[in-house]
Amino acid sequence: MTMPKSNPILHHLAIIMDGNGRWAEERGLPRVAGHQQGVRTVVEIVDECVRQKISCLTLFAFSSENWGRPQSEVETLMALLLEFLAAQRQRMLGDGVSLRVIGDRSRLSAEVQVALQKAEEETAAGSRLTLVLALSYGGRDELVRASRKIAQRVADGELEPDAIGPADFESSLDTAGLPDPDLLIRTSGELRISNFLLWQLAYAELYFVDAYWPDFGPPELRAALDSYRQRRRRFGLTAEQTAEGEGLSNSAS
Ligand code: IPE
Ligand code: IPE
Ligand code: MG
Repeated sequence: MTMPKSNPILHHLAIIMDGNGRWAEERGLPRVAGHQQGVRTVVEIVDECVRQKISCLTLFAFSSENWGRPQSEVETLMALLLEFLAAQRQRMLGDGVSLRVIGDRSRLSAEVQVALQKAEEETAAGSRLTLVLALSYGGRDELVRASRKIAQRVADGELEPDAIGPADFESSLDTAGLPDPDLLIRTSGELRISNFLLWQLAYAELYFVDAYWPDFGPPELRAALDSYRQRRRRFGLTAEQTAEGEGLSNSAS
């Protein structure tokens, strides 16, 4: 697909997949039914991102605060994650999808940790789409863990406090090496970030949509991408300064 010249390129899409519980409750179903349907949406959206030539997709799947939900719901979500990894393995390999996990893995069960590591290793060669799953993830928690790594380098005499810069944070965050998200989508009508990618979203374009995650399909994703393509990103500069450098589109990447 050729796009008009002034489209801002989209390397990295981040999504807060919200509304599974309400989707189910409105149908008189248990919340777990919403999460099951939500996994089907994940599969469709990953597919569509591959088709749209998006190189990185980060999905907020389980937050550091979600550990506080009823134990049965937490267990269901972990079981669905294991099922997803097993069921999607072949498809990820076939589609060139490489999996990467961000978040505090130490809180996950040994079984989940092993399955995630195996999936990351098996899919490492995938070069079309990096699928980043944010699991046991909180932006504040990630910044605290990054700060500890930097503090350790200072304590070891490798780094002077005055020399600490943004690059030291970037390389210490779970997302080290990934570009910042260009577009953040949140489903379910909530207008908040909920502790997602606090550092990395600094200049992301935001898109909020009322649809619950199980109802967010490829057409809804394409509408979000169309909205993004109309945006003019300035990064604190003037419109005149930022006009240069536009003219790239995903189809050319
Ligand atoms: C998003 O849906 C999935 C997770 C947070 C794990 P929710 O479970 O938050 O659904 P609502 O927001 O209660 O409807
Ligand atoms: C954000 O959704 C976390 C995920 C989508 C995994 P929540 O449902 O946990 O967020 P709040 O509680 O509505 O802010
Ligand atoms: Mg929610």
